[in-house]
Amino acid sequence: MKILMVCLGNICRSPLAEGIMKTKVPGSFVVDSAGTISMHEGEHPDKRAVKIAANHNIDISKQRSRPITRKDFETFDKIYCMDIDVLQDVVSKTRNEEERQKISLFLEVLGDHENAEVPDPYWGDMSDFEKVFQLLDRGCDAIKNQIPKS
Ligand code: 4NP
Repeated sequence: MKILMVCLGNICRSPLAEGIMKTKVPGSFVVDSAGTISMHEGEHPDKRAVKIAANHNIDISKQRSRPITRKDFETFDKIYCMDIDVLQDVVSKTRNEEERQKISLFLEVLGDHENAEVPDPYWGDMSDFEKVFQLLDRGCDAIKNQIPKS
């Protein structure tokens, strides 16, 4: 199973989602993350995201931001988007129904369609990052439980 987490900048939400998901699935899984913008390409995650992850014993400090590419639509089985803007942007890059079927809103798995967006903590403070961590942790658990055991 190959899972891609996608947000806007790939420095806050999706690096956390990648780091959390990697702690929950077998090593045979591929878990990666990307952004819809290339503004932060090559940068490590935001230091507040690194700190929140470290508080939960997860090291995301070595990740590097990268924009989503065409190849990702072939490589990955599942592409989880952190909010509706990101989802629309990612869907707009698809070329066929098979690619489109891979994409969903990350939090949709929790069944609350009203609150299915992971809020962007970039302009917030550490408490916003902690809230995002908790949301992502719940979402990753739910996603893991959805994956067929083979
Ligand atoms: P992310 O957060 O999408 O969770 O990585 C953001 C990162 C950067 C910006 C916005 C959101 N930005 O405007 O540069």
